[in-house]
Amino acid sequence: MNNKREHVTSSEIMERLEVVGRVFSEDGTYRPNELTFTLIEGRSITLGEIVCIKHPKLENTYVFYQVIDIPLRRKVKVYEEDLVRVNQPIEDPERNYPRAYAIQIGYIDPSSNEVKPLLEHIKPLCEVYRPTPQMIEKLLRPRSDRVYVSVGKIYPKLENELYLDLNVLLRQGLLIIGGVGTGKTTTMITMIITVLEECIKNNLKPHLLIIDKDGEYGCEELKSTAELAGGYICIPVDKVGFVETFTNPDALHKRLLEVTGIHPSSKLARELKSIVQQIFVNNRVVKLSEELFQEIMSKVHPGLKNELRGRLKVAKEVLLEISPTIEYSIDDVIELISNKAVVHIDCSTAETWDQVLRVIASLLDSIYVRALQDKSFGCLIVIDEVHFYAPEKGMFKPASEALHERMRNTLIGKIATTGARNGVVLFVTTQRLSLVAKTLSTQVGQNLIVHRVEDVDLERLKEIAGSELVGAIRLLPRGYALVKATANPMGRPMIVKMYPKARPLSTATTCLSRWRGNV
Ligand SMILES: Nc1ncnc2c1ncn2[C@@H]1O[C@H](COP(=O)(O)OP(=O)(O)OP(=O)(O)O)[C@@H](O)[C@H]1O
Ligand SMILES: [Mg+2]
Repeated sequence: MNNKREHVTSSEIMERLEVVGRVFSEDGTYRPNELTFTLIEGRSITLGEIVCIKHPKLENTYVFYQVIDIPLRRKVKVYEEDLVRVNQPIEDPERNYPRAYAIQIGYIDPSSNEVKPLLEHIKPLCEVYRPTPQMIEKLLRPRSDRVYVSVGKIYPKLENELYLDLNVLLRQGLLIIGGVGTGKTTTMITMIITVLEECIKNNLKPHLLIIDKDGEYGCEELKSTAELAGGYICIPVDKVGFVETFTNPDALHKRLLEVTGIHPSSKLARELKSIVQQIFVNNRVVKLSEELFQEIMSKVHPGLKNELRGRLKVAKEVLLEISPTIEYSIDDVIELISNKAVVHIDCSTAETWDQVLRVIASLLDSIYVRALQDKSFGCLIVIDEVHFYAPEKGMFKPASEALHERMRNTLIGKIATTGARNGVVLFVTTQRLSLVAKTLSTQVGQNLIVHRVEDVDLERLKEIAGSELVGAIRLLPRGYALVKATANPMGRPMIVKMYPKARPLSTATTCLSRWRGNV
């Protein structure tokens, strides 16, 4: 009974749908994946809009398309250009044929509620409708058994929210791109708050690590939502003591030469290389510690013992001096991540970028190892301005090469490539896509939120997102972004208006606000 009523209602809605045009192909060929339609007089359509046609076989089912071009065809008269030249045009609007070109999104399969592609012939000249916001909503959030996070409202109508499937997002990661001050951090903070809110609603226990380069993420809205989701703690990076860990003999050898000051082409350097290789035979992770130095001493050729002893003493001073400010070990931080919803590492308290990378690389290494060993440990790692941590080789190097190498090894070699399937996923932002290591941007680039970007970065963006979007990205005003995401059930790129749930703390510290004395 109930079903029948629903059925009648939905077909009634469908009968009331506005017919905007009819499918018409100039060359007489009709394909299901792309649609050209001519508008009915008096109707209008905008770029990006969603339209639909009736499914050729299934009743009460519609196939949806996204409008990606709106050419206007005008039947030419031979004298027309002559009249334009003498500035006496005859406008003749009845010779204008507004058309639209649309790409298939698919239809909702009534049996599975999934968006499926139409693979059959379509009917030439069939009606093209403007779906209701309710019909689009079903397409945007098709499955009731999934958790979706809203990103913003779809431009130009701003009637429907665009959702990303959290399951897919946490399996693949997220990349937010945009030029200086275009709203990347605001979008990331908003995403974090939305993810936490959805976790609360769905009784999930989230664990996030925020690596915050400039101390911008500590806003009240994020803190209070995190408290509700399981707890929040902010840890200044200079309060974390670290142990350097290595998973590859070359990186350890390089670091040992660096801290001991041994010349790379010396006999001692060669000896050290073979010792390091022996040590790695039995270990997956080697810690740069007092015990390691003892092990190296025990293996060194007797003739080189004295020289090595002196060198290791220097190294110890460089590495193991315990700073009085240390309050947390790496293991403490990992424990906090597994107990709280959000652990926020504020990197703005460090004196040098080397100090930040040492702590972060150790932390990421340990998170990865923990995730491999403990199947109940899952962590979403948020990194703002990721090119400072994993820059493309030869482009940009804010810290020493050995540390960057180590970061690359952890962040790209392990977390970006195999982390997500082991419960560790990355949400990152960057201002300069061309400065980020390509492997990293490609790995997390399946889900992209793009604010306006510099021309130099458009080429790299095209490589990961295709060239279809590039025109739109140049024009996006602040607060708008293009979303191209596998986690979007519609699978089509869409422009959305973002509605910030909070502002980064830096918003109040611009030059102008300082001049106003507002700080
Ligand atoms: N959706 C939005 N609507 C309106 N204003 C916004 C929106 N997003 C960000 N802004 C404003 O834009 C400014 C820059 O925002 P934000 O710091 O998030 O940008 P960013 O891209 O991270 O900048 P930076 O390159 O300095 O890291 C802020 O004043 C912020 O309030
Ligand atoms: Mg920012």
